[in-house]
Amino acid sequence: MEKYFFTYEDIHKTSLDIAARVKASGFEPDVIVAIGSGGFIPARIMRTFLGKPILAVGVAYYDSEDKPSDLPRKVQWIEEAEKKLAGRRILLVDEVDDSRTTLEYCVRELMRHKPSEIAVAVLHNKLKEKKGSIPAEVLRYFAGREIEDRWVCYPWDAQDIDAHMASAAAAARGS
Ligand code: G4P
Ligand code: MG
Repeated sequence: MEKYFFTYEDIHKTSLDIAARVKASGFEPDVIVAIGSGGFIPARIMRTFLGKPILAVGVAYYDSEDKPSDLPRKVQWIEEAEKKLAGRRILLVDEVDDSRTTLEYCVRELMRHKPSEIAVAVLHNKLKEKKGSIPAEVLRYFAGREIEDRWVCYPWDAQDIDAHMASAAAAARGS
């Protein structure tokens, strides 16, 4: 099956579009929480529009004995999270909503810090059956684009950015 190729320009436009929709919805985040590593660059671009600080979290899919695991676990979390997140409005950002496992895990962990509200923003939501679910406490969910269940190639993963750009251009021409 064909892959999607997105360029930095695509990512930039999609991130700004999401940020504008967040603002237009009436949600004013106090803080952006980026899920590493895919959420870092979109979060930074959204900050250009929203002007709020970014905190980062990291999760991984291996257990304490380095065995692969189906469940995410924290590898890096916000220091003094309680003070920084209690009573705050959080915009949680990631690049792709795939199985939704990571998003569900991060929302649940963040809720333990008693924010006043959590909204979720992703560049791309794959239309597919999800393993995880977004907790009902999340009232706002923004997806830059709804896409088919195909592999997405992001520019930051490219070893050869020129080849990546060529693939993106070819896909845009429909060849
Ligand atoms: P979800 O809750 O956001 O759906 O995440 P899920 O646990 O399903 O995703 C596990 C990992 O797989 C995540 O990366 C996610 O970014 C990555 N992934 C899923 N689909 C795609 C895709 O189509 N393209 C790319 N490039 N990655 C995909 P991670 O382990 O957190 O790593 P990273 O964010 O540091 O890259
Ligand atoms: Mg990711």
